[in-house]
Amino acid sequence: MSSDDAAILVVGARKTYRRVGRAAPRAAVDGVSFSVESGTIHGLLGPNGAGKTTTLKMLIGLVRPTAGSFSVLGEDSTGPKGRRALGFLPEQPYFPQHLTAMQALRFYGRLTGVPKGEIDARSMELLEKVGLHGEERTELSKFSRGMLQRLGIAQALIGRPEVVVLDEPASGLDPVGQRDVRSLMLELRSQGTTVLLSSHQLSEVEAVCDRVTILNAGKVAAEGHIDELLSVNGQTSVRVRGLTDLPAGVADMATDVAVSGSVWVFSVKDESLRDVVDAVDDAGGTVVSVTPKRESLEDYFARLIAVTAEGMAS
Ligand SMILES: Nc1ncnc2c1ncn2[C@@H]1O[C@H](COP(=O)(O)OP(=O)(O)O)[C@@H](O)[C@H]1O
Ligand SMILES: [Mg+2]
Repeated sequence: MSSDDAAILVVGARKTYRRVGRAAPRAAVDGVSFSVESGTIHGLLGPNGAGKTTTLKMLIGLVRPTAGSFSVLGEDSTGPKGRRALGFLPEQPYFPQHLTAMQALRFYGRLTGVPKGEIDARSMELLEKVGLHGEERTELSKFSRGMLQRLGIAQALIGRPEVVVLDEPASGLDPVGQRDVRSLMLELRSQGTTVLLSSHQLSEVEAVCDRVTILNAGKVAAEGHIDELLSVNGQTSVRVRGLTDLPAGVADMATDVAVSGSVWVFSVKDESLRDVVDAVDDAGGTVVSVTPKRESLEDYFARLIAVTAEGMAS
C-alpha cells in the first residue's frame, strides 16, 4: 500500500513523560509508525500500558506529541480539515450529567457542524443504532457505564466522519453490547468508513479487523493479519465428537488435549493429520473441525515480553 491510499498515517510517534524525582523522562510511545488502509477496520492491539491511548490521543490532537507526524486522508489530523474527517470515542467518555441523551447528542452535533435541520433526526437515528432507543429523555446521571459507552459511540458518529477512531469500544459493555459494537463496525466498513480501534482483548479485534498493529511497551511489536501473526507453524487444531477415548495412535500424536463429554480438542502436526482423521473415523468418531492452530494472544504477549526483557538484559 502506498501512503497515498492510507486513511490514517502515523510516522515516528513519540511521547515522553517526565517522572517526579527522576532525571530521565520515560517514553510512553517510542517511535510508533503504522498506516491504515482506507475502508478497512484496523486494530491497535496490546496489553495495558502499551501506549495505545497515548497514540490515539496524539492522532486526535488531545495530547501534544514529543515527535511524529499524524495525518488523516492526507491532511494533518490535528488541523481543521483533518479534525472534521475524524470521529473519536475516548477511553472514558464523559458527558455533562444533567443533560439528557438527546441533548448531549444535539450538543455534539452542533459542535461537529451537522446542519441544524438534521440534528434531531440524526440523533434519533444514532440512539436507535447504538441500542438507546427509548432513553432519549433520560438524564445521563442515570445512565450505566454501558449506556454511556453506547452514547459515546453515537457521539463519535454524529458528524458522519469518514474515519472513526474508537479507544476500547467494548469496554463496559456486556456480551450483547459487544456484539452490537462489532456489527456496527462492520456496517461502517460496508459504507466505506475507515475504523481504527484499540483493544487489549484479542476476541474483540479478531472477528472484525482486517489488519492489526500490535503495540508492546510503546513500540510496534508486529503488524499484519491476525491469522498470520498468531498461527503456529506446521500444527493443526482438531475437534472430534463421539469418542469416549482417543484411539491409541491418536493419543500418541496429540498435544494440548482438552475433553468435555465426548468432544475432544487437540493439536497435531500437519503431516499426521491424514492418519489422525482415518484413526478417528475407524474408531467411530466424527471430525467436526480442522483449523490452523493459533497461539492465544495472552501466550503471544507473554513470549513477546520475555523476548523484550531478554533484549534489555543483554
Ligand atoms: N499523563 C500521563 N503522565 C504520565 N504517564 C502517562 C500519562 N498517560 C499515560 N502514561 C503512561 O504511558 C504508558 C502508556 O499508557 P496508555 O497510552 O494509556 O496505554 P494503553 O492505552 O495501551 O493501556 C503507561 O505506562 C502510562 O502509565
Ligand atoms: Mg488505553
